[in-house]
Amino acid sequence: MKQNSVFPTLSKQYLFQEIQTRRDAFQATNPEKKLLFLGIGDTTQPLAPSIVKSLIQTTQELGTAEKYVGYGPEVGEKQLREKIATVIYHNDFSSDEIFISDGVNSDLLRLMLLLEEGVSVAIQDPTYPAYFDTARIAKDANISFLSITDGPPDLTKAPEGSLVFLCSPNNPTGEAFTHAQYEKMVSIALARKLFIILDVAYREFIRGDFPKSIYEIEGAKKVAIEVGSFSKSSGFSGVRLGWSVVPKELCYENGSPAHSDFHRLFTAVFNGASILSQRAGLQILSPEGEKEITTQIDSYLEQAQLLREALRAKSFSVVGGDQAPYIWVKMENKTSWEGFDYFLKNLGIVVTPGIGFGPAGEGFIRLSGLARPEVISEAISRIQAM
Ligand code: MLT
Repeated sequence: MKQNSVFPTLSKQYLFQEIQTRRDAFQATNPEKKLLFLGIGDTTQPLAPSIVKSLIQTTQELGTAEKYVGYGPEVGEKQLREKIATVIYHNDFSSDEIFISDGVNSDLLRLMLLLEEGVSVAIQDPTYPAYFDTARIAKDANISFLSITDGPPDLTKAPEGSLVFLCSPNNPTGEAFTHAQYEKMVSIALARKLFIILDVAYREFIRGDFPKSIYEIEGAKKVAIEVGSFSKSSGFSGVRLGWSVVPKELCYENGSPAHSDFHRLFTAVFNGASILSQRAGLQILSPEGEKEITTQIDSYLEQAQLLREALRAKSFSVVGGDQAPYIWVKMENKTSWEGFDYFLKNLGIVVTPGIGFGPAGEGFIRLSGLARPEVISEAISRIQAM
């Protein structure tokens, strides 16, 4: 058996594992320190009441002979696909263009399987590290980075015919693309035969006048796949539920549609998301569920903004917190890992080093506003006492 030759070329650990390892090592030698975890962006508020009710109801139904179901459709229950098509995409898609998944990461891997070995992949930089790892592991992809240090990614720099990973609102910087920026990207993608995968995991955090979907732009269906998640918006990082939109109009350069391949692949490698989470997904997309999750999202954003202001008061240069629950902090005269160590050793706060999100993240750290309120207020007190 030969090893996938990519593994020896990867960093030893995935970003969030590396943080845990360093955090645990520090805690082992400093057991008296009470660490605050603002590293990985994980939700902490309990599931909303109507969603809990839905999970209980489905569980009880599964305990009856009449309502028990085994395997559902691999691509997801029709009712949920229809609901996503209606509520999220305003009937712009048919339900069979929506694929229900257990979250973004597994769909990223499945989507990579549509493409040839050694495919060229251009990645917004900085952004979520799973795009890089997945593209390398699945396809030994030839990666280039599109820096967003001076504005939105310049897609004319992506190799012709390449796959481009975008994330809006962006993890880690918290910035969302404007309509005009999307328009420009879609028109370049059409001209240069690019395939875009847009991650909208944080779409529900958008509060300003920004598109929540790339499909608000004409022509996007010919170039873009969108991947979404209920993890951050609805506290489903443990329950697991997501979706991908693969438009029927999206074709490879040979003219054949990606949709039928994705359907073929999906039904072969996935047995479908949990029935419990899918039924709860219907509740999330109901008016009652939407109201509940909006309250939670607002409070996560408020926490991120409080952190941001505390750091600004200490003269840090900080962005984010308006369209995503993250804040992005410049560490003057420090590398990202030095910034990580500084926060860990001096404040007992675990952060995420910016370099983990790509080369343009060097010199930055990210703080998550998704922690418990008492953790956020303790972090703010420690920052104020710096
Ligand atoms: C993050 O911290 O960037 C995310 O929570 C990690 C993830 O979504 O897997």
